[in-house]
Amino acid sequence: MVELGGYVGYSAIRFGDALRRAGGKQYLSLEINSDYAAVAGKLVELAGLGDIVRIIVAPAHLTLVRLVHDKIIDHVELLFLDHFKDRYLPDLWLVERLGLLKRGVSTIVADNIGRGPTLEYLAYLQADTADKRKKIEQSGARVDLDRAELLQAVRAKSEEAAVTAIENVAGDPSLEYETELHEFTGRHPSHKDGVAITEVKA
Ligand SMILES: C[S@@+](CC[C@H](N)C(=O)[O-])C[C@H]1O[C@@H](n2cnc3c(N)ncnc32)[C@H](O)[C@@H]1O
Repeated sequence: MVELGGYVGYSAIRFGDALRRAGGKQYLSLEINSDYAAVAGKLVELAGLGDIVRIIVAPAHLTLVRLVHDKIIDHVELLFLDHFKDRYLPDLWLVERLGLLKRGVSTIVADNIGRGPTLEYLAYLQADTADKRKKIEQSGARVDLDRAELLQAVRAKSEEAAVTAIENVAGDPSLEYETELHEFTGRHPSHKDGVAITEVKA
């Protein structure tokens, strides 16, 4: 399981514990902020999950490519999106392009679906292949980088250059999804919120 956005470790501890009880192997928590990650690391240790939960500090898209480059992952069974909302769609596309989603196996869970860029994320999941292609074209995402070139890009001289090269990469419109949206009202009645659970179809 891979989560994008770990904050101080609440979801990593809850999901990490459930993952271990279900026989899972590895929970990777990707967090951009080193202070939050340091707190999360201590709490994960305290919860006795240090052997299964690993926290990695960097922008999630850079970490994802590095994890594939370093052969730490070759697929993701459960992807949890809970980081900056305008990164849901670009990071989904990167995960698609890296071939990390397995048809009939992988599930994506996205929190806080309800406003702004999360609605674009939802619309993409629910679009057909032709429409997905159009959305990718209109976004200006890079279509020139294939998987091998992406893996090369993270070996750029500086982290900044690597981050920029891979931050807006076209996805794989051939992947088909089945999405269930669970909506609820937040603390404020006008605050619409929801969790999208998406299965990658076989
Ligand atoms: C809503 S919090 C995560 C909460 C956590 N999943 C939980 O339920 O306990 C969002 C976190 O995403 C992190 N974040 C935002 N953009 C990120 C990115 N591009 N890569 C990695 N982490 C990111 C933020 O620093 C913040 O800690």
